[in-house]
Amino acid sequence: MNNALDKHGFAMDLVEQTATPFYYYDLDLLHATLDEINRQIEGHPFKVHYAVKANGNPRILKEIAESGLGTDLVSGGEIKAAIAAGFDPREMTFSGVGKTDWEIRLGIENGIGCFNVESIPELEVINQLAGEMGKKAGITFRVNPDIDAHTHKYITTGTADNKFGISIEALDQVIRHALTLPHVNLRGLHFHIGSQITEMQPYVMLCETVNRLLDRYDAQGIHFEIINVGGGLGIDYMDPDAHPLPDLEEYFGTFKRLLKLRPNQLLHFELGRAIVGECGSLISHVVFVKETRNKKFIILDAGMTDLIRPALYEARHKVQNLTAADSDGQETYDVVGPVCESSDVFAHDCLLPVTRRGDLIAIRSAGAYGESMSSCYNMRSLPSSVFAGGK
Ligand code: LLP
Repeated sequence: MNNALDKHGFAMDLVEQTATPFYYYDLDLLHATLDEINRQIEGHPFKVHYAVKANGNPRILKEIAESGLGTDLVSGGEIKAAIAAGFDPREMTFSGVGKTDWEIRLGIENGIGCFNVESIPELEVINQLAGEMGKKAGITFRVNPDIDAHTHKYITTGTADNKFGISIEALDQVIRHALTLPHVNLRGLHFHIGSQITEMQPYVMLCETVNRLLDRYDAQGIHFEIINVGGGLGIDYMDPDAHPLPDLEEYFGTFKRLLKLRPNQLLHFELGRAIVGECGSLISHVVFVKETRNKKFIILDAGMTDLIRPALYEARHKVQNLTAADSDGQETYDVVGPVCESSDVFAHDCLLPVTRRGDLIAIRSAGAYGESMSSCYNMRSLPSSVFAGGK
């Protein structure tokens, strides 16, 4: 346990001892989020799967595995990491439009609960490989519900124009086909409509779509053991201290109220960002403060290779100076990284305390899709990680 927290909630002894740039994870906040999830789903036929793509740091995975969640996985590497962290293979769902043969075999070998199938060619290959291995693979179909969640175009997944899932029109035929195959066991339907969703309306529409489909398949005598409504619940990037936890009551409450689950049916969720987003910050040093004719730049030793969200999605994260004195006044800065790309910008026109070379800067709400999307472009090193708090 680190006790000396600064006014922003960071264990400064840990921050000051660690070479920058690095990810700082607040495990107390991670556990508070996990505990709240478990509280919200208690007594309901709900199972939450953690979307490992949001953050596959082994320590983070281990902490989440201990809280009893399942996993949503999108590659053989993620299957291996989840098994190493202690997640139960039976509570694993393997999604993705381009699963390769070795990845499918790895999943079957380890007895994962479900392949989330996104096309007929994939269905055929899973059936064939499972047959060759003398096994039967559990599957769900990923349905593209054609719901626009109004998020950034690169993270919208549930509209008719993108590559994910099977259209509702094609579903009847695909289900009938699956029921004839000897080496797959059709367990349910899956839906994922996008990411960083902060309004409940898209989820309300999703519940209506699912209810309609359940009526349709009841009439055909087809029962699904699992309905998986994907993930996507957003977090507060602008004011993380006001909302350290997402509104889990409103989120789960929407499904409790509106989704008409059948007896013996389980509702699966696949949350990534909502679980790990707020517990992580990217910490860096100010290398230089540079003035040009009309701008002041804070140049950090962290860049887009450590956190690519601003460069890729024009995402904005709250930036804080952890070491400047408030009494020195404030200035407006562009906060940028050292990488040779003009998009390597964390914040434009950001009001901060007067900042100097050597100051420590935190880029907040970076726990999801931060470390997991980091790269070595410009032959930079991958960021390291430290953990504060925890059980
Ligand atoms: N399930 C499926 C099938 C998914 O494709 C995703 C995310 C999730 C669950 C988890 O979504 P979440 O609860 O984390 O929103 N790199 C982007 C986000 C990409 C999300 C991809 N799929 C970003 O940094 O905003």
